[in-house]
Amino acid sequence: MKTPEKALAAVYPGSFDPATNGHLDVIERAATTFDRLVVAVGRNSTKTPLFTPDERVEILRACCTPWPNVSVTTFDGMLVNFARERGARVLIKGLRAVSDFEYEFQMALANRHLAPDIETLFLMAGAEHLYLSSSIVKEIARLGGDIAALVPPPVEARLKEKFARPAANPLPAGDEPLKT
Ligand code: PNS
Repeated sequence: MKTPEKALAAVYPGSFDPATNGHLDVIERAATTFDRLVVAVGRNSTKTPLFTPDERVEILRACCTPWPNVSVTTFDGMLVNFARERGARVLIKGLRAVSDFEYEFQMALANRHLAPDIETLFLMAGAEHLYLSSSIVKEIARLGGDIAALVPPPVEARLKEKFARPAANPLPAGDEPLKT
């Protein structure tokens, strides 16, 4: 049994808007590699999110119940400062395709410049998840497609709620539903 100071902690940051099976695959790999994993939802993303940070935390917590060493929270400001506050010297990033690489490489080097004592580790999700992204999942859900195999059940339920007609996704004007 490791003493708390020796326990190896990692932070897995992201937007998770919403979490996909690809994210959960990375969480599982990191949770079984590290003693403690903090999944950190960025509050200051430049993207316009579908779910609020607090909703994303709540959804992720529901998805992470199989791993008792995983906690989920939001963070503001610099990621490396957050990692230090949490006693973590490792940042986990998921890599899918070559297209992810340039952006992730830039961020990893910027974070190394800011905090040379913190390492970024890239984990690959399983091949079956390589094409998955939060944006693709939202697009399919918005269009009423089946997302059951792409996201964990709590995410599927919340996406269905978000895109339930007519409130969140009304038909365009003049495109009335059929009267039966
Ligand atoms: O899932 P995403 O959108 O790639 O996640 C982005 C996130 C939250 C990981 C990224 O925006 C981030 O690291 N934000 C913290 C800001 C920061 O530390 N910037 C300086 C290093 S580039």
